[in-house]
Amino acid sequence: SMEADLKGKKLLITAGPTIEAIDPVRYLTNHSTGKMGYAIAEAAHGRGAEVTLISGPTNLKPPAGMEFIRVNTAEEMYDRVLENFEENDIIIKSAAVADYRPEATHPQKMKKQDDDLYIKLVRNPDILMELGKRKGNKYLVGFAAETNDIIEYAKNKLKKKNLDLIVANDLTEEGAGFGKDTNVVYLIDSKEDTTKLDKMTKLEVAHKVLDKIVKSI
Ligand code: C5P
Repeated sequence: SMEADLKGKKLLITAGPTIEAIDPVRYLTNHSTGKMGYAIAEAAHGRGAEVTLISGPTNLKPPAGMEFIRVNTAEEMYDRVLENFEENDIIIKSAAVADYRPEATHPQKMKKQDDDLYIKLVRNPDILMELGKRKGNKYLVGFAAETNDIIEYAKNKLKKKNLDLIVANDLTEEGAGFGKDTNVVYLIDSKEDTTKLDKMTKLEVAHKVLDKIVKSI
């Protein structure tokens, strides 16, 4: 849609992975490239929205015409998202936030040992769950990437996190998921109405997600 149907709306979008440092040279992360979230940001900007994009480390160029905030860790993303939450109408959390981080980041490079190494991981805050608790009349969108029982997991997440919409990604589908330019997703709303979208580009998926939001707000 080339209509400015999001004019006057403020969107907060998160994208990419987070990285969680073990020491100055090593970290934990995941395969997220940020493509889906950046596509949503670009699409929303094109439809007249005022966009803030909060991104973990990616190789993508920060899109023009929006506020761009770069973060590394889940805790940084949590802080930036909460700072920006109140002023936005629609929040789309496409970032693949690390669920765990090392309990401590070693200030110096850890030396190899002859023995096995155990790293204790502690839970990161669930950003979206926190937003769900303070939702008010904001429109909250989450993502779910799964390899099995996608719809069931996604519906549970939608309820548990108090979302208006969840975009569920089948990682086992051809042409879906990490790093691809296409995606295969289900859109599930708070009435549990479920739509499977055909395989399409991430920019097309972005527009379908925005179409659904525009219809519901
Ligand atoms: O529970 P799960 O991680 O599968 O939920 C995915 C959704 O929750 C995504 O929208 C993701 O951005 C969000 N999330 C989050 N903070 C976390 C973990 C996930 O905001 N620590």
